[in-house]
Amino acid sequence: MCPSILNADHSKLHSEIERVAADSDLLHLDVMDNIFVPNLTFSLDQSREIIEASSIPVDAHLMINAPDSDAFKYAQAGAVSVTFHIEASEHPLATISAIRAAGARASVAIKPGTPFSRVEPLLTEIDMLLVMTVEPGFGGQKFMAEMMPKLHEARAAIDSIGRDIWLQVDGGIAMETIAVAAAAGADAFVAGSAVYKAESPAVALQELRKLATQAASLE
Ligand code: DX5
Ligand code: ZN
Repeated sequence: MCPSILNADHSKLHSEIERVAADSDLLHLDVMDNIFVPNLTFSLDQSREIIEASSIPVDAHLMINAPDSDAFKYAQAGAVSVTFHIEASEHPLATISAIRAAGARASVAIKPGTPFSRVEPLLTEIDMLLVMTVEPGFGGQKFMAEMMPKLHEARAAIDSIGRDIWLQVDGGIAMETIAVAAAAGADAFVAGSAVYKAESPAVALQELRKLATQAASLE
């Protein structure tokens, strides 16, 4: 479980992170540059402050136009996983290497309109694949169930090469949708609104985890 602090209260991020820490595996940090997506969130310096202050490891999701020059800086800043969008990268192999060299897990993300085939050649290199289930840019959007065939395809390809690659979903993950994503093969789940709009983010995370675990065990 990777709660996203995009829709948390940014004026008290420290306590917002503490509310989810005990029930989270990674803290999902959405970095947006207002170029790759029409929204602006955390700068590199702000990201570093959040990473240093967080009691749980940080999963940085870079929705930025220049990952080839900047992605590794988030690894240097201490993120344990750095995800960049394939649509913004001209030299993904070099970017993956730079992230790894800086000590983080390297991950690529694909937008809803990008086919899995675009990243399939990278499966021998990456530690995680993020399949977006909304258009990146904003929290609180509707889960795109039509991405499930792409998740199935990714899961089958990951299993066939036998590397331990995490398969993450991000966008609209909630009580009503997480089981569908888990059944389609996802094993890492980002949730923003479903966690921070809940009365108790901790209880919401526990329930989401239970639903995902149940759905995965039925497969
Ligand atoms: C959207 C971000 C997501 C967002 C998810 O571009 O990548 O991580 O915070 O928010 P919800 O869970 O509300 O869809
Ligand atoms: Zn995200």
